[in-house]
Amino acid sequence: MIGMQVAIDGPASAGKSTVAKLIAQKLGFTYIDTGAMYRACTFLARSHGLDYGDEAGILALVEQTGIELRNIAGQQHVLVGTRDISHEIRKPEISAKVSQVAALSGVRQKMVSLQRQMAGKVDVVMDGRDIGTTVLPDAQVKIFLVASARSRAQRRMLDLEEQGIKTTKTVAEIEADIAARDYKDSHRAISPLKKAVDAVEIDTTSMTIAEVVNKILRQIKKSQKKLQKRG
Ligand code: CDP
Ligand code: CDP
Repeated sequence: MIGMQVAIDGPASAGKSTVAKLIAQKLGFTYIDTGAMYRACTFLARSHGLDYGDEAGILALVEQTGIELRNIAGQQHVLVGTRDISHEIRKPEISAKVSQVAALSGVRQKMVSLQRQMAGKVDVVMDGRDIGTTVLPDAQVKIFLVASARSRAQRRMLDLEEQGIKTTKTVAEIEADIAARDYKDSHRAISPLKKAVDAVEIDTTSMTIAEVVNKILRQIKKSQKKLQKRG
């Protein structure tokens, strides 16, 4: 018997990780940020001077150091070996290359297997691009978050400022970067970014975070009631 699985997919900066964290906190579920895992693979390639298409090299590094998502004082941290790379993986130079690494079939296989292991039998909220379609196809709740490209770029700019990550890019340039990444993520051969047929789509462009969270919580409650009825 699996636990309650909530899958949240969608393009970059639609608000997936923000709402996923809040829902996990509220319900006491485990939060799994799968994007952080592909970012960690990209960080490993970059820090070891590997080509971003060097699948065998990247997999060997993952084998050597492992990738760990650890909750420290309520915050999710990403570790490779003993090194905490939570901050580094958000930098634009990682964002610019992550889609290339995430398109490698061996890397995806490895990450999906780790993600399923992490989900195990506990209640989870997992966010990414292929959660509802591939990683957790039996998830009881599937959400597909979208928002206009401009508002997603504005959100990303604010995020970088808040995290103290400097960028010389304009909002229009960030919008172009995001659009390029979304294109790659939606057109790759393996598990592309795609709305699962049974996912509920929410456009967050003009919604507050609280409104999005409440809408998803209602979906979860509905699903929990259905499960209780079935006994
Ligand atoms: O936070 P942001 O939306 O910018 O991206 P992320 O969730 O950190 O994901 C970074 C990248 O990892 C995405 O652009 C995808 O290329 C890849 N990814 C993926 O392929 N599959 C997932 N389940 C999650 C992320
Ligand atoms: O995980 P993903 O890349 O989809 O997005 P995120 O990292 O959660 O970033 C979304 C940003 O938009 C955060 O700074 C949120 O505070 C903000 N935001 C949101 O998530 N949802 C809204 N309805 C409005 C703003």
